[in-house]
Amino acid sequence: MLLKNIEKALNDQIRIEAESSQIYLAMACWAEVKGLEGVAGFMYDQSQEERDHMLKLVKFVNERGGHAKVSELSEPNVTFNSFKEMFEKLFEHEVFVSQSINELVHITLQEKDYATHNFLQWYVSEQIEEEAMARTILDKINLIGDDKGGLYLFDRDIQQLTITSASIDTPQ
Ligand SMILES: [Fe+2]
Ligand SMILES: [Fe+2]
Repeated sequence: MLLKNIEKALNDQIRIEAESSQIYLAMACWAEVKGLEGVAGFMYDQSQEERDHMLKLVKFVNERGGHAKVSELSEPNVTFNSFKEMFEKLFEHEVFVSQSINELVHITLQEKDYATHNFLQWYVSEQIEEEAMARTILDKINLIGDDKGGLYLFDRDIQQLTITSASIDTPQ
């Protein structure tokens, strides 16, 4: 059984994952409208992944005797000054999500809920990967600067990055 405060904390995380999915969907739309097909594809994939993160939590809460909450979501930012700014936002958001997961892990230890603690380790590893990926992308963007040819290659290469990360992801 889930303690009420842990159920509440997990439900808060469900909302955060759902909002992450919306944020990246809005980024996908912005990139697609700008003609950045590769970047858009990458963001659509990120959006889908966040939805999967949400569903994994939903199922855990329901299976453990809690009731997963489907809540209202705040409207994401839909325009960006540059694609660099968009990826900076993505990175900042992932750091925020990592902090939220850490807080959740902390509560499970305080409450000696080792089942939830164990379940959350997957999210801890996932956040390490996502932060690293966002950092790698930002490094590449900084290398490109204002070079249009560089942007073209970046848009093409990021599709490759998505394919590679998808193929090394372990099936759930
Ligand atoms: Fe996530
Ligand atoms: Fe994420």
